[in-house]
Amino acid sequence: MPLLAPSLLTADFIHLESECKMLNESKADWFHLDIMDGRFVPNISFGMSIVKQIRKTTTKFFDVHLMILEPEKYVEEFKDAGANSLTVHLEACPHLHRNVQQIKSLGMNAGVALNPSTPVFLLKDIISDVDLILIMSVNPGFGGQTFIQHSITKIKELKTLINEANSSAKIEVDGGVSLKNAGEIIQAGADILVAGNAIFGSENPKETIEKLKSL
Ligand code: DX5
Ligand code: ZN
Repeated sequence: MPLLAPSLLTADFIHLESECKMLNESKADWFHLDIMDGRFVPNISFGMSIVKQIRKTTTKFFDVHLMILEPEKYVEEFKDAGANSLTVHLEACPHLHRNVQQIKSLGMNAGVALNPSTPVFLLKDIISDVDLILIMSVNPGFGGQTFIQHSITKIKELKTLINEANSSAKIEVDGGVSLKNAGEIIQAGADILVAGNAIFGSENPKETIEKLKSL
């Protein structure tokens, strides 16, 4: 059964505490926290001070997705804010190996994210060093977009790459995940599902989480 990581991006920020409480009481495994800088992606979300506040509400695992340039500048601050895992974008990191080692040296899990147009084979020389690969199944920047179907092929290619390298990296899929397509995504090889709109845009988020977890 895959892990479920609800993305707080589409949560109600006026009532953030009760949204966190709901997640805490739900079957959700991780908190997925989307950090956007308005430079790597055309949107700005929130930063480490909000992560720190959310940390007070739960002991669940914090999966922090950095959609920012020069992530190495902020790795320590996210660690201090309570991140358990930091994922950087391959497209934002000319020194990816160094970035991954930096994250791991601080005791966090290290992830690498791929935009929809970035091919899986570019991961060949980093796949044995990372804890997870995040396949973006929409163009990063906004919640509530439509799942790009080609991502299914990429998940399968990634699974093959991981097996060939004997890597323990997990496959996370982020963007447009819903009750309709989650089964197919899991079937293709996903270990962790991120879902924002499908959960927070539903009538009963806790029930939707339960349904997603029972697939
Ligand atoms: C997109 C973010 C995602 C997004 C997922 O840039 O990385 O985590 O919030 O939201 P949905 O599930 O609504 O596509
Ligand atoms: Zn994300």
